[in-house]
Amino acid sequence: GTYRIAVIPGDGIGTEVMPEGLRVLDAATRRFGISLEYEHIDWASCDYYEKHGQMMPDDWKAQLSRCDAILFGAVGWPEKVPDHISLWGSLLKFRREFDQYINLRPARLFEGVPSPLAGRKAGDIDFWIVRENTEGEYSSVGGVMFAGTDKEFVVQESIFTRRGSERVLKFAFDLAQQRAKKKLTVATKSNGIAISMPWWDERATEIATAYPDVKWDKQHIDILCARFVLNPDRFDVVVATNLFGDILSDLGPACTGTIGLAPSANLNPDRTFPSLFEPVHGSAPDIAGKQIANPIAMIWSAAMMLDFLGHHGGKEREAHDAILAAIESTLKEGPRTGDLGGSAKTDEVGKAIAERVANV
Ligand code: NAI
Ligand code: MG
Repeated sequence: GTYRIAVIPGDGIGTEVMPEGLRVLDAATRRFGISLEYEHIDWASCDYYEKHGQMMPDDWKAQLSRCDAILFGAVGWPEKVPDHISLWGSLLKFRREFDQYINLRPARLFEGVPSPLAGRKAGDIDFWIVRENTEGEYSSVGGVMFAGTDKEFVVQESIFTRRGSERVLKFAFDLAQQRAKKKLTVATKSNGIAISMPWWDERATEIATAYPDVKWDKQHIDILCARFVLNPDRFDVVVATNLFGDILSDLGPACTGTIGLAPSANLNPDRTFPSLFEPVHGSAPDIAGKQIANPIAMIWSAAMMLDFLGHHGGKEREAHDAILAAIESTLKEGPRTGDLGGSAKTDEVGKAIAERVANV
């Protein structure tokens, strides 16, 4: 069948990297016989907000629900719209209303990419971070009390539901089980956060009984952060609650080089609503409009989309693997954008990857 893809470039370099994502998708789908139909969307952008006073039309949910997946660039242009409005008015709505409860990010060190960690080479670092994406520490339960008096205080509750915790842990165990090393690290802080985190550990222990072949352990978030930097080669799959996962999923890719490479998926694994695939980076106003942004994070995100659409098999998996191989050889042999020490334009890198996908 044909997959229907909502294409949302957004703002800034989102509009520059998206055409390269589509260019490579076109090459891959042509080669492997996959049919995509694009729905090009100009909302969920700050330009749209300037004209309409809101980030999206009222029927955004109905429009996007008709699609199998969403390919997203980046949103935000602080000079026009405050960041909390542009983010909460678009991306964060998608995550919550489409129940995209998994935020998935790889951390992988490639040849040709200088690692900020001394002595590491390609292949040493290759792991996945699974972040809970809908609940936990990011709740809106709480408030400021006795404001302006000497009794003033603020409370904000963390909410971990049994369903929400179990489903993210299951996803992570499943992922670990499919990988060669079959290792899972559960981020926790049950020594300091003495009610919710011991409960989270118990959920992990329970779920683990269904995965006897997965080697798993739990690590406190503080030492876990240190080990991301000191021993990143030891990790395979790492699962964490919303806040801890937010921190880890920036730290992991940072250890492997430029943010211009890092892709992410916001997944609804039950497929009741479309999942969303986007680069980790934002709209980068400081380099926007110059055609110098690295398109690889966008291209890799598009590859993750194909793989998810194909349930991690079939010709979609082959297309994904071909795109990854093309990214790898382009990082090794060039062309490279400025963040990787090169001087290539955004579209030169996109074209080089598309050509390799078509020919390798
Ligand atoms: P940013 O990721 O846009 O930029 C951070 C730094 O990395 C900048 O120096 C930028 O030039 C560089 N950079 C980012 N992507 C790059 C690429 N592909 N190639 C080369 N260099 C790249 O983060 P920042 O500056 O904090 O935020 C800018 C805007 O983006 C804000 O409005 C923010 O709210 C929004 N944002 C949106 C996100 C999203 O749509 N998921 C995520 C992060 C930020
Ligand atoms: Mg973050």
